[in-house]
Amino acid sequence: MAEVIVFANRKGGSGKTTLAYNLANVMNKKTLLIDFDSQAHSTVYAGINPFDVKYGIYEMIVDYLNTGKYQNKTLNIHNIDIIPSNQNLAALEIELASYEGRNFVLKDILIDFHNKYDYIFIDTPPSLGLLTINALNASDYLLIPVKSDFLSLVGLSQMMEIYYKVNTENPDLKFLGVIPTMVDKRTKISKEIINELKRIFGEKKVLTPLRNDVKLIESSSHGIPIKKYAPKSRAALDIRKIAKEIQELVK
Ligand SMILES: Nc1ncnc2c1ncn2[C@@H]1O[C@H](COP(=O)(O)OP(=O)(O)OP(=O)(O)O)[C@@H](O)[C@H]1O
Ligand SMILES: [Mg+2]
Repeated sequence: MAEVIVFANRKGGSGKTTLAYNLANVMNKKTLLIDFDSQAHSTVYAGINPFDVKYGIYEMIVDYLNTGKYQNKTLNIHNIDIIPSNQNLAALEIELASYEGRNFVLKDILIDFHNKYDYIFIDTPPSLGLLTINALNASDYLLIPVKSDFLSLVGLSQMMEIYYKVNTENPDLKFLGVIPTMVDKRTKISKEIINELKRIFGEKKVLTPLRNDVKLIESSSHGIPIKKYAPKSRAALDIRKIAKEIQELVK
């Protein structure tokens, strides 16, 4: 059975996609990444043009809603499987609004994937709408990437409220922790943010930080995971550490 891990934070640019994509690439187990964001950044990171995605997660869901079936057009790129996204996904929230089981559509679809993978990662949009709710309901574990700046702390309580709310519908969802991202250990603010996160969530819920590294930006623009683009970079090192930590935590 796959462990399903969702990367969520309503704050934009907190490192969800960077973590989800690069961690998926170093789990060394059968891993599926679902791009559940109409921005399709995980898709782009995997080197796929979203305009070429004719059958992504949106089309799967629409087929499922209309016919009870869907095609499996999972792509295999750099040793991971990915269900890509495109801009059509932006319409899903409205289309789902009147559907009774709207909070559990992704969960229903994923049932067929559970026995094919060790890990399923879900990258989500920077909002707390139906897409994110669906992703949380389909998951066993929640990871919240937090950019190390002051404003990132402000929205966190809302994120946790949503977690507690979803938890009543999906008691299986466990809060795995927060991952401080874009951390510069030389700066006071980075240290302060990490200390504050530890104070709020407890030491054990603050995972290894992902340090600031321009190599990550470069790797995304080349569509190559950091482990291949710059295997010796500090980002690649951090990503391997975080992956190990996750594997230990979800055992
Ligand atoms: N550790 C890091 N060091 C340097 N740049 C980073 C780091 N992590 C992420 N970035 C860059 O910051 C930007 C935002 O990161 P990312 O796209 O992963 O965030 P996100 O939470 O998925 O954003 P969105 O909410 O829009 O989906 C990207 O340009 C990414 O390359
Ligand atoms: Mg993203």
